[in-house]
Amino acid sequence: MTETTAATSQVPEDAGALVVYASTHGHTAKIATRLADAMRAQGLAVELTHIDHAGHLTPAHYDLVVVAASVHKAGHQKAVSAWVGEHRDGLAIVPSVFISVSLSAAEDTDAARATTQHLVDEFRAQTGWSPTRTECVAGSLQYREYDPFTRQLMRLLMHHMGHPTDASRDYDYTDWDAVDRLGGELAAIRVSAVVA
Ligand SMILES: Cc1cc2nc3c(=O)[nH]c(=O)nc-3n(C[C@H](O)[C@H](O)[C@H](O)COP(=O)(O)O)c2cc1C
Repeated sequence: MTETTAATSQVPEDAGALVVYASTHGHTAKIATRLADAMRAQGLAVELTHIDHAGHLTPAHYDLVVVAASVHKAGHQKAVSAWVGEHRDGLAIVPSVFISVSLSAAEDTDAARATTQHLVDEFRAQTGWSPTRTECVAGSLQYREYDPFTRQLMRLLMHHMGHPTDASRDYDYTDWDAVDRLGGELAAIRVSAVVA
């Protein structure tokens, strides 16, 4: 896997795609990794980078930029909005994709769909970024990753929302086959953009 760190990062010779992600409890990291693997399976060079190591990267140097963030307390990670806001001009000249990971995206109701869309609209308004494509991906409930306070808070919230409250296990709502398909489709976006 190509994963950059502040010390080792450099733009690959065949720039390919950049996947930048933030992940509070590790689930979006798994999604970004799976997406990068699916794109690589289509022959694309992919640089996968945690947001903490993305400060020096230049989106315009890549053929495709994917930004993945998760929702906590009704907002995406601030480090991601800051990076996107800072690189808005560069992101405007390459195909770019925003992946928003949340539990509301796991719910099949009009209210949940409206909430999910609102979270994305708010992120776009905050950053001024208009990605070529936006995908809302259902995340997971990771009770075993949470500290005791967060675990109890989430159990209460999940009780109200009709989600499981047995904190002895995690609940993964992500459709991993869809993530694989998305990786293939994103690789094609980049290829068609380069050919055009
Ligand atoms: C403290 C906390 C707050 C959360 N707040 C929201 C929220 O407001 N809306 C939502 O849809 N999901 C919310 N979630 C669910 C996360 O988006 C979901 O667990 C996601 O998979 C987390 O991904 P990560 O591990 O990459 O951070 C919250 C999760 C936690 C632990």
